[in-house]
Amino acid sequence: MPTIKDITSQPPVKDPYRYNGEALPMNAGAEPITGLRRFYIESYGCQMNFSDSEIVASILSEAGFGPTRNMEEADLILVNTCSIREKAEQTVRNRLTAFRHLKRERPGMLIGVLGCMAERLKSKLLEEEKLVDMVVGPDAYRTLPQLVEEAGDGRKAVNVLLSRDETYSDISPVRINSNGVTAFVSIMRGCNNMCAFCVVPFTRGRERSRDAASIVAECRDLFDRGFREVTLLGQNVDSYCHIEEQTGQTITFAHLLAMTAAINPLLRIRFSTSHPKDITDDVLHTMATHVNICRYIHLPLQAGSTRVLQLMNRTYTREWYLAKVRRIREIMPDCGISSDIIAGFCTEAEEDHQDTLDVMRQSRYDFSYMFMYSERPGTLAARRYADDVPHDIKKRRLEEIVTLQNRLSLESNLADVGQTFQVLIEGNSKRSELHWMGRNSQNKVIVFPKSDLPGKAPGDFADVTVTECTQATLMGVAVTPTPA
Ligand code: 5AD
Ligand code: SF4
Repeated sequence: MPTIKDITSQPPVKDPYRYNGEALPMNAGAEPITGLRRFYIESYGCQMNFSDSEIVASILSEAGFGPTRNMEEADLILVNTCSIREKAEQTVRNRLTAFRHLKRERPGMLIGVLGCMAERLKSKLLEEEKLVDMVVGPDAYRTLPQLVEEAGDGRKAVNVLLSRDETYSDISPVRINSNGVTAFVSIMRGCNNMCAFCVVPFTRGRERSRDAASIVAECRDLFDRGFREVTLLGQNVDSYCHIEEQTGQTITFAHLLAMTAAINPLLRIRFSTSHPKDITDDVLHTMATHVNICRYIHLPLQAGSTRVLQLMNRTYTREWYLAKVRRIREIMPDCGISSDIIAGFCTEAEEDHQDTLDVMRQSRYDFSYMFMYSERPGTLAARRYADDVPHDIKKRRLEEIVTLQNRLSLESNLADVGQTFQVLIEGNSKRSELHWMGRNSQNKVIVFPKSDLPGKAPGDFADVTVTECTQATLMGVAVTPTPA
């Protein structure tokens, strides 16, 4: 097998799978290219991981590797992992065992674990999962080519150094997960919040923001290539803050939103994820004054009882949170709001759980991500509190939360019936090639017949009147815009 040096010293290959300004074809890597080593990458967990995998793809492509979607032909299998709950880690461990036969069939093939599990478990992962050759933390992807070389020489390679300034600012991500219409742009990394249940501050390190100019340039480039929606990504986007080197000006998240929205009115801007404490009036007013900043805020509640919120170190009370929801609706009456909710955190009593249901009802979430509490080693909660809510009670509370959310989602969707929304077409509906699927500004999925507006394509906008709905989807008919 050639080493990296052999590959990089070859003349550049005209490689259709390399970053060439286009989305990679879905069957990228189907045809073997002589002399090119192939990597296959699987991502688990949050959007940030999917975005990071595109950075990894770019780094490896620059080092002379080509992506493949067929793991059977890969020389390098990478798994970008999540540690947020124990189940997420178990999923990755199960997946790793599935690669065992590939390794037997392709001696020399390397397996690397990237992301949060790599950071959390470090070299212990090499002992626990014998088939793993490389363990690479989220701030160490630039060293991947050297690590591959080391591992190729039979030395297991580990780099889990966390950085105070790594933002991968200058890397153009290879859009391996792309539909050609919507893309993620990472704007900050890490989290300083130290919520008691959360492992992220340990696996992703301290907050650092990427310079605004490089973010705007990346968004503009995406727009020029036909993308019509960017999601600004970070563990904690609304604490974005960057001091521009040349001017000394402090760019806040509100400034950044306005700067990206100004690129083109046809480019939609979303963001994820926010901590409620950082959604300032400034951010809300900036959203309200730009129609292309989507009317949608993910506002994780976690728990509805002030006592539990305090134990969680969330820094707000239930009343403060509810006031924030009211403020959002006051400034943007049509804003969609979604949430993250944890059932059964340490010491949670029945009345705390009722408080959570109550805040959900008052907030009228359009959508929620709901979880049972899972103790994570090393977190504040694991060190300080007993995980004392029995599993069957956690499960029952989660079921009640899910049932309530299903009802709220249906009510929210029913209220949209009869209304007309601007939809950005993303592609075919999952169920039928005769229908387009897209999202409105509030992030709701809307499906409508292609025959309503012949000539439309993914990346186009359409005005759609909602005629019916389920709890998960709006269905509608497209209306032809009246000529001006
Ligand atoms: N157990 C359960 N859910 C968790 N989350 C984070 N840590 C845990 C944990 N230990 C949830 C939170 C967070 C989302 C990304 O995952 O709701 O907002
Ligand atoms: Fe975890 Fe809290 Fe940071 Fe979100 S804000 S990543 S829940 S510590």
